[in-house]
Amino acid sequence: MSGKALNIGDTFPNFQANTSEGKVDFYDWMGDSWAILFSHPADYTPVCTTELGRVAALIPEFRKRGVKPIALSCDTVESHKGWIEDIKSFAKLDSFDYPIIADDKRELALKLNMLDKDELNAEGIPLTCRAVFIVDEKKKLRLSILYPATTGRNFDEILRVIDSLQLTQTKSVATPADWKQGGNCMVLPTVKAEEVPQLFPSGIETVEVPSGKHYLRITPQP
Ligand code: BEZ
Repeated sequence: MSGKALNIGDTFPNFQANTSEGKVDFYDWMGDSWAILFSHPADYTPVCTTELGRVAALIPEFRKRGVKPIALSCDTVESHKGWIEDIKSFAKLDSFDYPIIADDKRELALKLNMLDKDELNAEGIPLTCRAVFIVDEKKKLRLSILYPATTGRNFDEILRVIDSLQLTQTKSVATPADWKQGGNCMVLPTVKAEEVPQLFPSGIETVEVPSGKHYLRITPQP
């Protein structure tokens, strides 16, 4: 039986797992940080190797944002340890500074609904898809994305989303299409006109549109 699909805002379930860095209790491991948990179909696979290498290279970027990465793959700790040496070699890394969960029995993959029924291993057992879960310090799920096994993730996009999540949780803005850190933002539709001067003292631009409605309100990133 698979677990219930998680929605944004749900409490992300705690779990205990063996990892390439020893036993982990997810909540204890997170402490007061955010976490990104991202899953992989299997060890020693080409796309996964590029992804894990990319995340290892981006560790300083995740640290800057207070986010701890943890990967999951459906193989054993022993297998992960051997694979990490390949990843380091491929991505030209001196170190690999985050854990890979050993989910060889697919228990977590089932619990977190990460199995891809269309992607089977040689024994016909479903592999995990490329799931991404971003969890905040209160253990709330802030974002989830599912990619098929054949499409590697864009980790610049994942950092961009984290920037948006962290900005919009304290400021009354939302980030528009293709926004990047430092770019213009949209004033939240829930902000009343009379609240604008106090919330946005340097002013906003309201774009005129055929409907005559004043919902396209642009502000420099607060
Ligand atoms: C890969 O990581 O390259 C991969 C894994 C499973 C299916 C397809 C691709």
